[in-house]
Amino acid sequence: MQDDFKKIENLSRILKKRFGRIPETLLVLGSGLGFVADILENKTIIPYKSLKDFPVSTVAGHEGLLIKGDLNKKDVLLMKGRFHYYEGYSMQQIALPFRAIFYSGVKRMIVTNAAGGINKSFRKGDIMLITDHINLIGDSPLIGKNYEKLGPRFPDMTYAYSERLREIAIKCARRLKIKLQSGVYAAMHGPTYETPAEIRYLRTIGADAVGMSTVPEVIVANHMGVEVLGFSAITNMAAGIEKVKLSHQDVSDVAERIKERFYSLIAGVVKEL
Ligand code: HPA
Repeated sequence: MQDDFKKIENLSRILKKRFGRIPETLLVLGSGLGFVADILENKTIIPYKSLKDFPVSTVAGHEGLLIKGDLNKKDVLLMKGRFHYYEGYSMQQIALPFRAIFYSGVKRMIVTNAAGGINKSFRKGDIMLITDHINLIGDSPLIGKNYEKLGPRFPDMTYAYSERLREIAIKCARRLKIKLQSGVYAAMHGPTYETPAEIRYLRTIGADAVGMSTVPEVIVANHMGVEVLGFSAITNMAAGIEKVKLSHQDVSDVAERIKERFYSLIAGVVKEL
């Protein structure tokens, strides 16, 4: 098997060749925000499937596209289609595209996701600025050989979500009059939603929202010294808080309803980077 570091170098070489200059900002958009890909200007699009070693999303209807384009006159790289642990990818498979992208020169990553609200002061439809996370996936993308050229064996995670970028986001939300909650994101591997008992446990250990993504790429980013900004769309109150069953359809519907507000916030932040 080809050494992972060789794969990263190869992929990075291909990305530079096909995109030319690599933007400094990567956007990873979760449920409901895929439309941002359509409004980028001056686009160059590379399908994941044309990139060797890039995993291809298994979720039906999820296009796998890596796009370079301008958002608010700033060039960004955008991943349309994300990889989840519950799809059966190993953490190392999930890590590879991010490592190649970061290795190519990206300096910061903005991640968004859909999440269940655990904090009872949250409401369905809120946007939460992620201040920290708890990794309950039970795995890490950094398990295995460490490549010192990418980062240290034991990376610090004290500032996993950049205070500098959070400040920018808070100011931007204030200016746009968008209500911004903030809190800790707990990552579960899914694909089941949680039980009410699990939600009580997550609240006890300090989580404000829960989801099934984001943390693998945030760990990879921190390992490589890439600054991270994260937002959760609170698409539902977590299991057991309201007397309802959770469904992906409801999650998607709420994500759809808040997409404009979510987009304004991200576009506003990008402008100020
Ligand atoms: N739990 C886990 N993942 C989620 C949820 C949830 O309640 N809502 C959206 N993604």
